Amino acid sequence: MAETARITLSRPDDWHVHLRDGEMLAAVAPLTARRFGRAMVMPNLVPPVATAEAAASYRERIVAALPAGARFTPLMTCYLTDATDADMVARGYADGVFAAVKLYPAHATTHSAAGVTDIARVRGVLERLQEIGMPLLVHGEVADPDVDVFDREAVFIDRVLLPLLDDFPALKVVFEHATTAYAVDIVRDRGDGNPPRLAATITAHHLMITRNAMFEGGIRPHLYCLPVAKRERDRVALRRAAASGDPRFFLGTDSAPHTTAEKESACGCAGIFTAPAALELYAQVFEDEGALDKLEAFAALNGSAFYGLSVNTGTVTLERVDWVVPATVPLAGGGAITPFLAGGTVRWRLADG
Ligand code: NCD
Ligand code: ZN
Repeated sequence: MAETARITLSRPDDWHVHLRDGEMLAAVAPLTARRFGRAMVMPNLVPPVATAEAAASYRERIVAALPAGARFTPLMTCYLTDATDADMVARGYADGVFAAVKLYPAHATTHSAAGVTDIARVRGVLERLQEIGMPLLVHGEVADPDVDVFDREAVFIDRVLLPLLDDFPALKVVFEHATTAYAVDIVRDRGDGNPPRLAATITAHHLMITRNAMFEGGIRPHLYCLPVAKRERDRVALRRAAASGDPRFFLGTDSAPHTTAEKESACGCAGIFTAPAALELYAQVFEDEGALDKLEAFAALNGSAFYGLSVNTGTVTLERVDWVVPATVPLAGGGAITPFLAGGTVRWRLADG
């Protein structure tokens, strides 16, 4: 019998994840902690995590939700609002509470009502971030209802990102969950420096699906997220960028759990829940691209270098064995979350643990 193929990587990081709170946190944090050494935890709770005190106490709740012996460090983000105080942010960064600031344009996505209404209002904070070298993580979509939902990323790049990069030439920016060939081009064009001043995270689902998947045989709420999946040429560009080993692209799942009831609704929430198979899905994509040798750069090295952090000690091993993604992940109170590819087969499996 042929030997099972295996790959071993430095323990990777998830540079964009939603862990939520309460029973949802308890259900999802162990899944992320099993695969990743660190994760950049998004602050869009209700109310948002907008102060260092709130972030420190959220971090404690995350750590309390981890299984005994977990080797996992949550990295906290500050939810930027029109009223964010630059001194508070800088203190939180100096104290090691905040790792980055997250910019949500107001009303662009789930729980973003408190987000930034106009970049002009946060110039003081951005100047400070630039001065202290603290990264700005950007949800890159305009919320303008007159802009077609499939164009919101490209319009954000033109209206907001490019002027921002010009106005703050030393500001470190992560263009989160890039979904378009245009975003890939811009990150390549403008992400100069070593480490680069502009980088992007790429989700597993945007490497795997296009917008067609949302309408295959009917409406598929579990494949709806923001930014929404785009066209095939965009998917191809994202796959090439991720699989190239280019240091400007790194792993960020944007795993965004909502209950099955909240998704399967007349107004279903945006968010795709990939945490139960996150690393395995990327391995499958990289294998298809003939680039398994680049997975470690994308998953473990590039993000660490961008953030100026050392690579995690320890490794994870994946083996080429089919397994089936659970149909649901139960919540303590009785509800459940439906994962991406629920009941579907994934070709790579986590070995041990
Ligand atoms: C995220 C969520 O549910 O918090 N949803 C999503 O579709 N990605 C918010 C976000 O990252 O936009
Ligand atoms: Zn997100």
